[in-house]
Amino acid sequence: MPDSESVAIYPGSFDPVTLGHEDLVKRTLRVADRLVVAVARTATYLKQPLFTVDERVQLLRSVFAGEPRVECTSFDGLLVDFARSRRSRFIVRGLRAVSDFEYEFQMAQMNQELWSEAETVFLTPDVRYSFISASLVREVARLGGDVSQFVSPTVLERLREKTRS
Ligand code: PNS
Repeated sequence: MPDSESVAIYPGSFDPVTLGHEDLVKRTLRVADRLVVAVARTATYLKQPLFTVDERVQLLRSVFAGEPRVECTSFDGLLVDFARSRRSRFIVRGLRAVSDFEYEFQMAQMNQELWSEAETVFLTPDVRYSFISASLVREVARLGGDVSQFVSPTVLERLREKTRS
Protein backbone atom coordinates (compact mmCIF):
# COMPACT_ATOMS: atom_id res chain seq x y z
CA MET A 1 0.00 0.00 0.00
CA PRO A 2 1.81 3.23 1.04
CA ASP A 3 5.36 3.84 -0.19
CA SER A 4 8.39 4.00 2.12
CA GLU A 5 7.67 7.58 3.15
CA SER A 6 4.10 6.67 3.99
CA VAL A 7 2.78 10.11 3.05
CA ALA A 8 -0.65 10.06 1.47
CA ILE A 9 -2.37 12.82 -0.48
CA TYR A 10 -6.12 13.18 -0.11
CA PRO A 11 -7.22 15.57 -2.87
CA GLY A 12 -10.67 17.01 -3.35
CA SER A 13 -12.91 20.05 -3.47
CA PHE A 14 -13.95 19.82 0.19
CA ASP A 15 -16.68 22.44 -0.28
CA PRO A 16 -17.18 21.97 2.62
CA VAL A 17 -15.41 19.17 4.52
CA THR A 18 -18.06 16.68 5.73
CA LEU A 19 -18.12 13.93 8.35
CA GLY A 20 -17.57 11.51 5.47
CA HIS A 21 -14.27 13.23 4.62
CA GLU A 22 -13.31 13.19 8.30
CA ASP A 23 -13.98 9.46 8.45
CA LEU A 24 -11.77 8.90 5.39
CA VAL A 25 -8.95 10.88 7.01
CA LYS A 26 -9.13 8.74 10.16
CA ARG A 27 -9.06 5.59 8.07
CA THR A 28 -6.11 6.78 6.03
CA LEU A 29 -4.12 7.48 9.19
CA ARG A 30 -4.37 3.77 9.99
CA VAL A 31 -2.37 2.93 6.87
CA ALA A 32 -0.19 6.02 6.34
CA ASP A 33 2.13 7.90 8.65
CA ARG A 34 1.14 11.34 7.41
CA LEU A 35 -1.61 12.76 5.27
CA VAL A 36 -1.81 15.89 3.15
CA VAL A 37 -5.42 16.95 2.62
CA ALA A 38 -5.26 19.09 -0.49
CA VAL A 39 -7.95 21.36 -1.92
CA ALA A 40 -7.69 21.59 -5.70
CA ARG A 41 -7.83 25.09 -7.13
CA THR A 42 -8.73 23.43 -10.43
CA ALA A 43 -11.37 20.87 -9.49
CA THR A 44 -12.76 19.11 -12.54
CA TYR A 45 -16.49 19.08 -11.81
CA LEU A 46 -17.14 21.53 -8.98
CA LYS A 47 -20.22 23.60 -9.78
CA GLN A 48 -21.43 26.58 -7.79
CA PRO A 49 -18.81 26.58 -5.04
CA LEU A 50 -19.94 27.95 -1.70
CA PHE A 51 -16.61 28.56 0.04
CA THR A 52 -13.46 29.97 -1.53
CA VAL A 53 -10.49 27.62 -1.70
CA ASP A 54 -8.79 29.50 1.15
CA GLU A 55 -11.92 29.27 3.30
CA ARG A 56 -12.08 25.52 2.64
CA VAL A 57 -8.47 25.11 3.70
CA GLN A 58 -9.20 27.09 6.89
CA LEU A 59 -12.18 24.86 7.64
CA LEU A 60 -10.09 21.74 7.11
CA ARG A 61 -7.40 23.14 9.41
CA SER A 62 -9.88 23.78 12.18
CA VAL A 63 -11.48 20.36 11.80
CA PHE A 64 -8.09 18.56 11.91
CA ALA A 65 -6.42 20.92 14.39
CA GLY A 66 -5.95 18.11 16.90
CA GLU A 67 -4.24 15.78 14.43
CA PRO A 68 -0.54 16.60 14.00
CA ARG A 69 -0.15 13.99 11.25
CA VAL A 70 -2.57 15.85 9.00
CA GLU A 71 -1.54 18.86 6.92
CA CYS A 72 -4.19 20.87 5.07
CA THR A 73 -3.30 22.91 2.04
CA SER A 74 -4.31 23.74 -1.54
CA PHE A 75 -2.69 23.13 -4.88
CA ASP A 76 -2.76 24.54 -8.40
CA GLY A 77 -2.54 22.55 -11.58
CA LEU A 78 -2.37 18.80 -11.87
CA LEU A 79 -2.75 16.54 -8.88
CA VAL A 80 0.09 14.30 -10.03
CA ASP A 81 2.47 17.28 -10.18
CA PHE A 82 1.48 18.26 -6.67
CA ALA A 83 1.87 14.68 -5.44
CA ARG A 84 5.30 14.43 -7.04
CA SER A 85 6.36 17.74 -5.48
CA ARG A 86 5.39 16.32 -2.08
CA ARG A 87 7.22 13.07 -2.81
CA SER A 88 4.05 11.05 -2.41
CA ARG A 89 2.66 8.66 -4.97
CA PHE A 90 -0.11 7.45 -2.70
CA ILE A 91 -3.43 9.17 -3.57
CA VAL A 92 -6.45 8.47 -1.40
CA ARG A 93 -10.02 8.73 -2.61
CA GLY A 94 -13.29 7.68 -1.04
CA LEU A 95 -15.69 5.30 -2.76
CA ARG A 96 -19.17 5.57 -1.33
CA ALA A 97 -21.21 3.69 -3.89
CA VAL A 98 -21.05 2.07 -7.31
CA SER A 99 -22.12 5.43 -8.76
CA ASP A 100 -18.76 6.91 -7.69
CA PHE A 101 -16.85 4.21 -9.46
CA GLU A 102 -16.78 5.41 -13.06
CA TYR A 103 -15.54 8.90 -12.26
CA GLU A 104 -13.00 7.61 -9.77
CA PHE A 105 -11.77 4.89 -12.10
CA GLN A 106 -11.27 7.40 -14.93
CA MET A 107 -9.36 9.79 -12.68
CA ALA A 108 -7.19 7.02 -11.25
CA GLN A 109 -6.31 5.77 -14.72
CA MET A 110 -5.64 9.26 -16.07
CA ASN A 111 -3.39 10.01 -13.10
CA GLN A 112 -1.56 6.74 -13.70
CA GLU A 113 -1.06 7.68 -17.36
CA LEU A 114 0.24 11.10 -16.35
CA TRP A 115 2.58 9.64 -13.74
CA SER A 116 3.11 5.90 -13.84
CA GLU A 117 4.18 5.79 -10.20
CA ALA A 118 0.90 7.24 -8.93
CA GLU A 119 -1.18 4.75 -6.98
CA THR A 120 -4.77 5.57 -6.11
CA VAL A 121 -6.05 3.79 -3.03
CA PHE A 122 -9.81 3.73 -2.47
CA LEU A 123 -11.25 3.63 1.01
CA THR A 124 -14.91 3.25 1.87
CA PRO A 125 -16.44 5.39 4.59
CA ASP A 126 -18.50 4.08 7.45
CA VAL A 127 -21.97 3.17 6.16
CA ARG A 128 -23.41 6.06 8.22
CA TYR A 129 -21.67 8.47 5.85
CA SER A 130 -22.11 6.66 2.57
CA PHE A 131 -24.84 8.98 1.28
CA ILE A 132 -23.22 12.26 2.34
CA SER A 133 -21.73 14.43 -0.37
CA ALA A 134 -20.46 17.99 -0.09
CA SER A 135 -22.64 18.98 -3.04
CA LEU A 136 -25.82 17.79 -1.27
CA VAL A 137 -24.72 19.45 1.97
CA ARG A 138 -24.27 22.72 0.04
CA GLU A 139 -27.66 22.40 -1.59
CA VAL A 140 -29.53 21.53 1.60
CA ALA A 141 -27.76 24.33 3.50
CA ARG A 142 -28.50 26.87 0.75
CA LEU A 143 -32.17 25.89 0.88
CA GLY A 144 -32.30 26.31 4.64
CA GLY A 145 -32.27 22.61 5.62
CA ASP A 146 -30.59 21.15 8.69
CA VAL A 147 -27.15 19.73 7.90
CA SER A 148 -25.99 19.35 11.50
CA GLN A 149 -25.73 15.56 11.16
CA PHE A 150 -23.38 15.78 8.22
CA VAL A 151 -20.69 18.26 9.23
CA SER A 152 -18.65 19.25 12.29
CA PRO A 153 -19.92 22.10 14.49
CA THR A 154 -17.28 24.57 13.15
CA VAL A 155 -18.33 23.83 9.60
CA LEU A 156 -22.00 24.12 10.53
CA GLU A 157 -21.42 27.55 12.00
CA ARG A 158 -19.59 28.76 8.88
CA LEU A 159 -22.27 27.24 6.65
CA ARG A 160 -24.94 29.13 8.58
CA GLU A 161 -23.03 32.40 8.25
CA LYS A 162 -22.39 31.80 4.58
CA THR A 163 -25.94 30.86 3.61
CA ARG A 164 -27.42 33.73 5.66
CA SER A 165 -25.40 36.28 3.69
O1 PNS B 1 -13.87 16.32 -4.47
P1 PNS B 1 -13.80 16.21 -5.97
O2 PNS B 1 -14.36 17.46 -6.62
O3 PNS B 1 -14.45 14.96 -6.49
O4 PNS B 1 -12.23 16.12 -6.34
C1 PNS B 1 -11.80 16.09 -7.67
C2 PNS B 1 -10.28 16.36 -7.74
C3 PNS B 1 -9.97 17.66 -7.04
C4 PNS B 1 -9.55 15.24 -7.07
C5 PNS B 1 -9.90 16.45 -9.25
O5 PNS B 1 -10.70 17.40 -9.88
C6 PNS B 1 -8.42 16.84 -9.42
O6 PNS B 1 -7.54 16.03 -9.20
N1 PNS B 1 -8.17 18.11 -9.81
C7 PNS B 1 -6.83 18.63 -10.01
C8 PNS B 1 -6.52 18.82 -11.50
C9 PNS B 1 -6.17 17.49 -12.13
O7 PNS B 1 -5.18 16.88 -11.82
N2 PNS B 1 -7.05 17.07 -13.06
C10 PNS B 1 -6.90 15.78 -13.71
C11 PNS B 1 -7.59 14.70 -12.88
S1 PNS B 1 -7.44 13.13 -13.59
